[in-house]
Amino acid sequence: MAASTINFLNLPLLIFSILLLCRRSLAAGTPSDTLYNGGNITDGETLKSTDGSFTLGFFCPPGAPTKRYLGIWFTASGADSLYWVANRDTPFNNTSGMLVLRTDGILGLLDGSGRTASAWSASDPTVAQAQLLDSGNLVVREMSSGRTLWQSFDDPANTMLAGMKLGKNSRTGENWSLTSWRSQSDPAKGSYSQVMDTKGLPDIVTYWHDKVKKCRAGPVEQSLVSGIPELDSDFKQFSVQMVNNADEVSYYYILDTTTAGSSTYIRTILDEAGAVKVLVWIPSVSVWRSYPWLPRDVCDDYASCGVFGLCNIASTAFCGCVEGFSPVNQSEWSRREYSGGCRRDVRQRDDDVDRRVHGAAKREAP
Ligand SMILES: *[C@@H]1O[C@H](CO)[C@@H](O)[C@H](O)[C@H]1NC(C)=O
Ligand SMILES: *[C@@H]1O[C@H](CO)[C@@H](O)[C@H](O)[C@H]1NC(C)=O
Ligand SMILES: *[C@@H]1O[C@H](CO)[C@@H](O)[C@H](O)[C@H]1NC(C)=O
Ligand SMILES: *[C@@H]1O[C@H](CO)[C@@H](O)[C@H](O)[C@H]1NC(C)=O
Ligand SMILES: *[C@@H]1O[C@H](CO)[C@@H](O)[C@H](O)[C@H]1NC(C)=O
Repeated sequence: MAASTINFLNLPLLIFSILLLCRRSLAAGTPSDTLYNGGNITDGETLKSTDGSFTLGFFCPPGAPTKRYLGIWFTASGADSLYWVANRDTPFNNTSGMLVLRTDGILGLLDGSGRTASAWSASDPTVAQAQLLDSGNLVVREMSSGRTLWQSFDDPANTMLAGMKLGKNSRTGENWSLTSWRSQSDPAKGSYSQVMDTKGLPDIVTYWHDKVKKCRAGPVEQSLVSGIPELDSDFKQFSVQMVNNADEVSYYYILDTTTAGSSTYIRTILDEAGAVKVLVWIPSVSVWRSYPWLPRDVCDDYASCGVFGLCNIASTAFCGCVEGFSPVNQSEWSRREYSGGCRRDVRQRDDDVDRRVHGAAKREAP
């Protein structure tokens, strides 16, 4: 009894000594959040940010037990919160993968044969270190100057965390966009992307196969603030920062540390089906609370009812045509394929419909 009481009383001291040990090992060059020049992370090893909130390591996505990827995830919720995947399109077959910080400052991912599968960072050979920050950002810095050579926040996958940008810088050519996973078990680039459209007012647009506009948020400043009304109290802890100048148009979230605890996190995710959700980590219950953002409903889809179509969520068919217009292709329309849209009714005999539609098809052709 007495012994356990003493142990209990000594616990804070014990933790303190362990922390001291960790600090010492940090100085000794084997920290858990930093990879030094010439160092490596093998499958099974991890880097952890100082406060433990983010982990970098190898993983298999759910449902794909034979594929190995290197990624960064939110420690408390594991593989369902991967925000960055290094080798999305080139999974490894086995556990021989390795992340190395080469002596020339390049961060490289090697497969089992020592071949470089992916490489990031420096253009000039330099002495560097890679550190996983508490924000989740993996930053490669030049040791002498502290200059950032590369950061994972500049290489987004399907997720945006606080501090990551979405947008573009026309002077440096940098751009930050999201691309969906192919499926929940395959992080390869999927069909959807979310980009900042800068033609006209800055607008966040979801594209399908990089061409077809699927959804748009509307002018950025308003939609981020008013787009998700139910993000009430959870969202008040974050603010949206806009950069909108001659060089750069972008936005990002910052955590308001005066109202939020340090264990508050936000992420925006573009899912496999092209839907955008905002998720806020609720530390008291350890869950991500999910807020659908785009599309809020089927009528947020870009031109969901085609030209001259009207979307009405109250109607079971969703789509109709504006007054005086009819579906271009009635058979597609009745199969709920609305993209063909509507066109103006012209006075004609009923048996003339076929010719009319063929005429329309011919007009499209050249
Ligand atoms: C990886 O790190 C280990 C231990 O630090 C070292 O022995 C090994 O040579 C390194 N391998 C590569 C390929 O850098
Ligand atoms: C994975 O294994 C398969 C079959 O063993 C092989 O054909 C393929 O080339 C391997 N892929 C890689 C990236 O090594
Ligand atoms: C793992 O895969 C790589 C690339 O396919 C191969 O070169 C290496 O020999 C494999 N390692 C093991 C232990 O099978
Ligand atoms: C985005 O940046 C990459 C390089 O970082 C570049 O290859 C690509 O062309 C850019 N895309 C646009 C749309 O500017
Ligand atoms: C309507 O669309 C279907 C399927 O896309 C097509 O097969 C059919 O020819 C179209 N009908 C007319 C009248 O154009």
